[in-house]
Parts: sequence; structure tokens; C-alpha cells
Amino acid sequence: MTDTAPAAEGRIHEFKTESGADTVKVGRKLAALLKPPQLLLLRGDLGTGKTTLVKGIAQALDAAEPDEVTSPTFTLIHEYDGTRDGDPIKLYHLDVYRLESERQLETLGLDELLTPNALVLVEWGEKFKSIKKRSTGEILITAEGGDTRKITVTLKD
Ligand SMILES: Nc1ncnc2c1ncn2[C@@H]1O[C@H](COP(=O)(O)OP(=O)(O)O)[C@@H](O)[C@H]1O
Ligand SMILES: [Mg+2]
Repeated sequence: MTDTAPAAEGRIHEFKTESGADTVKVGRKLAALLKPPQLLLLRGDLGTGKTTLVKGIAQALDAAEPDEVTSPTFTLIHEYDGTRDGDPIKLYHLDVYRLESERQLETLGLDELLTPNALVLVEWGEKFKSIKKRSTGEILITAEGGDTRKITVTLKD
């Protein structure tokens, strides 16, 4: 895992990973940067490692072990309870790939999820204007041949 970001703070962080395990490790590191409340688009082609990254984030927040984090493709949303600096944190992992309209999306009650201690990570959220509008940043994963991935984290502030 290489972190090419200049320093701890700053709005853009870039990582390069060479394996799934490496991406889990980046997820663990990222957890420290993601102060709730936060709604992040988790972008990248199918199989680039979006769910894999969430495994690391969940682990660092004591919310779930990597094995327990699976894709919410069919359930749409997975909810985990974690802690960060001694405070409770709600981790929501969504995959809205299967949703086709803003109307269907409304049934998820996104606004209710976004409480002050919530970290909401949404795969395929860029499909929906309403999610993009609410997002506080994005994590983009790009495959660069073989198992290499570039992970770019952009946080608005
Ligand atoms: N550098 C890497 N980062 C993340 N996943 C990787 C990497 N190299 C190989 N993989 C594999 O690619 C797959 C990514 O799957 P997943 O995280 O479910 O993708 P997505 O949620 O983006 O569809 C996993 O099987 C993982 O082991
Ligand atoms: Mg996924």
C-alpha cells in the first residue's frame, strides 16, 4: 500500500493497492479520516474493490470483522454499530445498483440515516441526483491492470 497524499490533512488522498488485503488495509487507514456525519459515494466499476474497502473501514471502527461485511446488493443496506474516539458511530453500507428510480430510492429513507454520528457509504450512488446532492465527498477506485487499484478520496469541507 502506498499513500501518495502529502500529509495527514488535505482534501484529496490517493492510495495504490496491489491486493484485496491491501485495500482492506487502506480502508482501515481511511476510517480515521472520515469524520461523521458523512455521506460518501463509493465509485468504481464492478469488482474494483468498493465492498472490500468497506471491510477495512468497518474493522477500524470496531463495527464488523472483514468477513462479516458482504455486499448489500440485494438487501440494499447494511447497518453496523461501531465506535470512533470513544463515541458511537453508525456505519451504513448501501448498494443502490438495483434501484431504478428516485421513487424507489425514497423507500430507503436516506435523510433519516444521515444522523450526526453516521458514516454512509454508497455504492452506485452517482446514479441518483438526490444522493449526489447530499454527498460530502467520494471515494473512487480505478483498476490499473492486474490487481493494482488506485483509490482517490475527495472530501468536501
Ligand atoms: N487491489 C485490490 N483491491 C481490492 N480488491 C481486489 C484487489 N485486487 C484484487 N481484488 C479482488 O477484487 C474483488 C473486489 O470485489 P468487491 O470488493 O466486491 O468489488 P465491488 O464492490 O467494487 O464490486 C475481490 O474479489 C478482491 O479480492
Ligand atoms: Mg460491492
